[in-house]
Amino acid sequence: MSRRRLVYEGKAKILYEGPEPGTLIQYFKDDATAFNAQKKGSIAGKGVLNNRISEHIFTLLGQLGIPTHFIRRLNMREQLIRQVEIIPIEVVVRNVAAGTISTRLGLEEGTQLPRTILEYFYKDDALGDPMIADEHIAAFGWATQDEMTEIADMAIRVNDFLCGLFAGIGIRLVDFKLEFGRIWENEFARIILADEISPDGCRLWDMESGEKLDKDRFRRDLGGEAEAYQEVARRLGLLKGDDANMVLDLEQHRAKRGK
Ligand code: TMP
Repeated sequence: MSRRRLVYEGKAKILYEGPEPGTLIQYFKDDATAFNAQKKGSIAGKGVLNNRISEHIFTLLGQLGIPTHFIRRLNMREQLIRQVEIIPIEVVVRNVAAGTISTRLGLEEGTQLPRTILEYFYKDDALGDPMIADEHIAAFGWATQDEMTEIADMAIRVNDFLCGLFAGIGIRLVDFKLEFGRIWENEFARIILADEISPDGCRLWDMESGEKLDKDRFRRDLGGEAEAYQEVARRLGLLKGDDANMVLDLEQHRAKRGK
């Protein structure tokens, strides 16, 4: 078998050339980084869990009519996706104050925001992903005004759906990050949801205890990251039947690490 061509390696995922033109294979790593990769580590089994969680969420979003890059899951760590021209903007949707909005505006973490807030960050590691305004996006041509309207509408629809999905399993959706891409059909560009939706890019708090079930466990050295990701997958109904193998895989990882 010939080696696959690596298209791009990010901090938590690798993209390989897909089997057909216009497709890619998205591989989920266990690597975890925070604070623009100043903190590096790994969460045992994270790639497997994020692959499953993201598959589940993107499939449900697709059923609601939200176009996404997801085609199908291939195996434990890989999914087939549509190749997009990535829009270099991280869209952060916030329902509750936490993280950088709390420090920036002096809001106590956990304060319900008066309304859902969308924030935009320019994807540039060298600059540390600075926060930007609509004006920058238009002025530098990162996306057109129409594309930004579409992106904002989609982000709100995704938020409405995810808030309900997580509330149904006792989880408060505090905030999350989305990325979008452009696909070309003849001379027309269409915006679709790309990247992943997983506890890596969401803040998920248990509704009763307030316990953090997301990457903040890693960012803030709280411990129990693998268990938290597993809990999210379990509550979403993704850890049953043949997925016992996945739990086993995680247990083996943990045993190897002597935990
Ligand atoms: P923030 O509070 O650090 O700005 O993060 C807001 C949300 O966006 C949080 O759920 C984590 C997610 N996020 C990412 O997925 N990638 C990133 O690089 C950053 C900074 C945040």
